[in-house]
Amino acid sequence: MSRASRLAVYPGSFDPLTNGHVDIILRGARLFDRIIVAVLVNADKAPLFPAEERLDLIREVFKGQSNVEAEMFGGLLVDYVRQRGASVIVRGLRAVSDFEYEMQMALMNRHLLADAETVFMMPAEQYTYVSSRLIREVVALGGTVTGLVPPEVEGRLAARHAAGKTRRR
Ligand code: PNS
Repeated sequence: MSRASRLAVYPGSFDPLTNGHVDIILRGARLFDRIIVAVLVNADKAPLFPAEERLDLIREVFKGQSNVEAEMFGGLLVDYVRQRGASVIVRGLRAVSDFEYEMQMALMNRHLLADAETVFMMPAEQYTYVSSRLIREVVALGGTVTGLVPPEVEGRLAARHAAGKTRRR
């Protein structure tokens, strides 16, 4: 695939999308011609937001960004990457603690699909401690996450908290 049409896939659970994710997506959108944010549909996990809602939120946040798309995927990531004709898998690295898991995934994905290259990017420093898991926990316990997630996500989290639904299903 030529540089002129380089497509990257940024996979994850995005439960919910954080400003750390947004930062990585914007960096990817500058580096590649198109980036697809690929939301994992995982029936085994009990997510806070259903996959459709996670996808809607990402589309809402990036509606003005023409080279950012969002889709759902299930099964093996490499099958999805192959099917979309992408050559790059983007992942964010916040700290050394992320490294071992990320390296294992990158090498397994390379074993399964040698043509796809995993590219790691570091988010801005102010997001290095932000994770979806901590966002869920803080909101469930009544804390504020302003500035750590997009306003659209904050609004949905607040609505869920008000309805007593911030515990994972
Ligand atoms: O945001 P997350 O939860 O850390 O993302 C993990 C994700 C979705 C990238 C990973 O679990 C994944 O790729 N799952 C799809 C199944 C798969 O391909 N497993 C083998 C990966 S080595």
